[in-house]
Amino acid sequence: MRAPNPDPETRKVNLFDPEVARCPQAVYTRMHTQCPVARASLTNSPVMSRYEDVIQALRNPALFSSEMELQMALGTERPMIPQQLDPPLQTRYRKLLDPHFSRRKMAALEPDMRRYANELIDRFVENGACDFDPDFAIPLPCTVFLRLAGLPLEDLDLFLELKNGIIRPHLKTKSIDLEVNKNARVESGRQIYAYFERVVEDRTLQPRDDLMTQLVHAEIDGEKLSRNDILDICFLLLLAGLDTITATLGCNIAYLAANPQQRRRLVAKPELIPNAVEELLRWETPVTGVPRLAREDFSIGGIDVKAGELVTLLLGAADVDADEFDEATRVDFERARNRHLAFGGGPHRCLGSHLARMELRVAMEEWHKRIPEYAVAPGRQPRYSPGIREVLELPLVWPAP
Ligand code: HEM
Repeated sequence: MRAPNPDPETRKVNLFDPEVARCPQAVYTRMHTQCPVARASLTNSPVMSRYEDVIQALRNPALFSSEMELQMALGTERPMIPQQLDPPLQTRYRKLLDPHFSRRKMAALEPDMRRYANELIDRFVENGACDFDPDFAIPLPCTVFLRLAGLPLEDLDLFLELKNGIIRPHLKTKSIDLEVNKNARVESGRQIYAYFERVVEDRTLQPRDDLMTQLVHAEIDGEKLSRNDILDICFLLLLAGLDTITATLGCNIAYLAANPQQRRRLVAKPELIPNAVEELLRWETPVTGVPRLAREDFSIGGIDVKAGELVTLLLGAADVDADEFDEATRVDFERARNRHLAFGGGPHRCLGSHLARMELRVAMEEWHKRIPEYAVAPGRQPRYSPGIREVLELPLVWPAP
């Protein structure tokens, strides 16, 4: 049993420190021994790092609420469904949505997914070099999502622009001013609502065999979803389903570029890829943490949490907790028991996990079939972002065929 450190100063953690971006696992492991519950140095809000604490909190929405759309300021006009709702309302929407994202339904997308991956690789394989995100990891999940939703593939660039307007408004505003970027998010939010409103209109008049039509006709307890319900679901799918895959693919390929022995094992034994996908999700945990709103006062690990405080559940730290994982800091593609929290847990566990797993597996299989040997371009170092863990630039090179 590890005793928490009583010194308030060492109970602070700066999640935006460049060291966290460079080597989060070392910071997380230090937290486990020194301050399993800390306070964020920038916001002073509580941060939980132990697997057991994090999973208990994820499973207890009555105390750790997700109803905090105002605090998140993501350009929305209403809560995103189902992520910013608590049970029992959230459960009603999940019952409706889960069947549309089942393993079986997602498996049906696999042949198209393989084709898209290969079409992208065709464009650069003979160059012996690519810029991994713009050339592969960004367009791939977006194309799959458009195909799933039944939206025109020509909307790819527009979709990326809308999503970036919320996630990276500074790229458009060229400003770091919080107010400027908040306003830009609101404007992008309006465009996202307007885009999906047009699609809903179209599918109401001309039903098709796609997810958007299914949402238009979906019912909860005999009642159709309202137009706003559909828009609030689509807004979330756009934010949750694209960058997460891009970030995970980037982390995986950067890890394998830096660890050629592990990469060669995967190339020699592609049957290890599904397990490697899980292990890299655990090790990298790209959604490093999720926020929750404390509903009551309580104490945990020597920290007093007040009702109304935002609490960060540090999924990435939970995923390297030695109390849960054998040899937690070793990346083992044959790990037998791996209950990682990269997709969260409890009622909000990722709706798109079957889709994500299929996309990651297929992308890793097709990439390594065609480009088994690769490295980061000479003189370049991958730089990681804090928050969502992603590689900011990943220029790759390989022997051209
Ligand atoms: C590797 C890729 C992905 C990762 C690491 C990931 C991670 C997560 C995590 C950690 C949560 C929990 C959030 C919370 O507890 O507040 C979540 C929720 C969610 N994810 Fe994913 N996700 C991925 C891909 C996707 C995809 C492809 C989609 C959809 C197309 C998706 C849709 C959602 C939705 C709708 C929720 C909210 C579920 C709810 O609140 O009931 N995700 N995801």
